[in-house]
Amino acid sequence: MPIEFDFGESLYEGRVGFRLRTALKRVAMNTSAHCDLSVIVNEFLHLPVLQKEVIEALNVKPNGIYVDATYGRGGHAAEILSRLDKHGRVFALDRDPEAILAARRRFGNDPRFSATQLRFSMIGQFIESQRLTGQVNGILFDLGMSSVQLDDPERGFSFQHDGPLDMRMDPASGVSAAHWINSASDREIAKVLRDFGEERYAKRIAQAIINERQREPIDTTLRLAGIVARAVPTREPGKHPATRTFLAIRLFVNAELEELQAALPQTLGLLALGGRLVVISFHSLEDRIVKRFMREQARGEALPARLPVRSEELKPRLKLVGKPVRASEAEVQRNVRARSAILRVAERVGGECA
Ligand SMILES: C[S@@+](CC[C@H](N)C(=O)[O-])C[C@H]1O[C@@H](n2cnc3c(N)ncnc32)[C@H](O)[C@@H]1O
Repeated sequence: MPIEFDFGESLYEGRVGFRLRTALKRVAMNTSAHCDLSVIVNEFLHLPVLQKEVIEALNVKPNGIYVDATYGRGGHAAEILSRLDKHGRVFALDRDPEAILAARRRFGNDPRFSATQLRFSMIGQFIESQRLTGQVNGILFDLGMSSVQLDDPERGFSFQHDGPLDMRMDPASGVSAAHWINSASDREIAKVLRDFGEERYAKRIAQAIINERQREPIDTTLRLAGIVARAVPTREPGKHPATRTFLAIRLFVNAELEELQAALPQTLGLLALGGRLVVISFHSLEDRIVKRFMREQARGEALPARLPVRSEELKPRLKLVGKPVRASEAEVQRNVRARSAILRVAERVGGECA
């Protein structure tokens, strides 16, 4: 039975139209050896953020070694691979088993590519196991979750679709959001909402959660979103009232900030001289960690202020490259996820690692 598509003319226009036409062509012609409709549609729906800027920032060399620490659906990895010759390598990591499955389906036959399910806080051990410590030309972190994770109700990240309240990027490790929210104390919940969501109504929301879960456990995304919406007395323009709560719980359940804090210092020992560290953050807590790390490493040793030392004696390990980059208006129009993205880039320079 032939598949018929009727999306109307406008969808076929512009960049989105081009991607749609290409995807449909691949489905129609079944040209790929691993032509699986769900893989193609997912790849199509996921638009990589700041793609051109990331590739420029990585300064990709054809025979270079690159680590995509957050593969997602491979938007950036694909672009890096397309610039490599047969000696280049891309090591893709992701803690989400579905991302790794998609990576292997898409690039499994490419000898320059490998995909490993791993938290990026293990990046040092991983690169060491490949005997590539100090030889990596570029490491990319595109933080947070992918649109594929967000849009799948079964993963429990979204307050727009109903689904089990899970929110784990790796559903086989740690505790789900539901487990935590049904067992944590009101003080603990309020602290997480305040610290990770900067939620000013944290206490009210925590109390509402405690009251509601006594009636019945809170197991679904829409139930939690409804409880939060009723507890929050005011509205931020253009924002669902549960936005901050969902962000906070996601960051907490996945220990996202701890992951980042653990991974960044390891990259210093992994990068070759001139190698690039490229990070895209999506909110201020992440960006603050990245900004501080890069600045401190670019400043070098912290010595007492009045000691007479030359700048090379401070042994900086990184050099900042350019200014932080934000997505253009045009990109935000195409991909609303790009609105809060901020890209920072640093280059490995001389100083030794501790
Ligand atoms: C924004 S998406 C990356 C999108 C990707 N650059 C692309 O173009 O398709 C972030 C990905 O990082 C993964 N991730 C988040 N934190 C991680 C961590 N600590 N370790 C490994 N992967 C992580 C998520 O599972 C998700 O797939």
